[in-house]
Amino acid sequence: ADALKIGIAGLGTVGAALARILVSRANELAITCGRPIAIAAVSARDRSRDRGVDLSAATWFDTPEAMAETADIDVFVELVGGAEGPAERAVRAALARGLHVVTANKALLARHGVELARVAEEKGVLLNFEAAVAGGIPVIKALRESLTGNTVSRVYGIMNGTCNYILTRMEKEGLTFEACLKEAQRLGYAEADPTFDIEGNDTAHKLAILTTLAFGTEIAADEIYLEGISNISIEDIHAAAELGYRIKLLGVAQRTESGIEQRVHPTMVPHDSVIAQVDGVTNAVAIESDILGELLMVGPGAGGNATASAVLGDIADIAKSRPGAQRVPVLGTPAASLAPYRKAQ
Ligand code: HSE
Repeated sequence: ADALKIGIAGLGTVGAALARILVSRANELAITCGRPIAIAAVSARDRSRDRGVDLSAATWFDTPEAMAETADIDVFVELVGGAEGPAERAVRAALARGLHVVTANKALLARHGVELARVAEEKGVLLNFEAAVAGGIPVIKALRESLTGNTVSRVYGIMNGTCNYILTRMEKEGLTFEACLKEAQRLGYAEADPTFDIEGNDTAHKLAILTTLAFGTEIAADEIYLEGISNISIEDIHAAAELGYRIKLLGVAQRTESGIEQRVHPTMVPHDSVIAQVDGVTNAVAIESDILGELLMVGPGAGGNATASAVLGDIADIAKSRPGAQRVPVLGTPAASLAPYRKAQ
């Protein structure tokens, strides 16, 4: 079969990990996906950096927009990040051209996701974003596919690996907040601007995406109650421990009588709960629904391989043209019938 030609915009932690996997496992992937997956184009600011993979056969572009507009590709993979700017312009250009798009960009989707999904539906292409929420945990697939027919009442969890890593190491090793944050940055977990992690914005972006899928509502990320972990001290953590609790940064979205309530804040969770045992960069997402009951997924939430794994799954869905992937409306609920967001009073 013909190769699926992909263009990767952004060769940072995730993009480089993805490229290494695609090249080193090319043969296995061609068999699993039913056709070879070829990296036909790439765009990155620095061409010369050693990324541990030979990309000399790909066409290099200076900007994501140039690649989206002119590259000979079937799928545009956006791993640049940022709600506005090059990533946004490039995704719009790719969809306008009728390319499938795979993105890990939660900030972009939280702000423009519904609109971009509508464009993708109109164009008959896929907009896949499993990697945008909770890294390698297949929470988007769960909401869009596995839970079909269920009415969701609540979605919550630990959705930022950097914060959970910081809280865990502060508690278990007595390290300072700053030292833990530096280490999370070094390991490639943190956002380019880590205030998005520690002030809760990143969790809010992810929660907004889950809320839209779970409840069929328009995203209103700015309306989410937001409190990060930058004011949590080691004394707070110890005081909570003495009472039998651990502090976790949770994102929570639930149906209430007055609307969908969404909030992000540090939460005391009972020591013996599953969520309390989730340590380090690991994420956990719980979904409560009426047919299935409570589903809890725990797994790697940030970092190159965890995120690249989810991106790869999205690319494989396109390569296989899975009927489910093609036919399930992008938002799980037909975009046209989405209810506007109502803030709980
Ligand atoms: N900075 C994010 C985190 C990356 O720490 O969870 C994954 O989205």
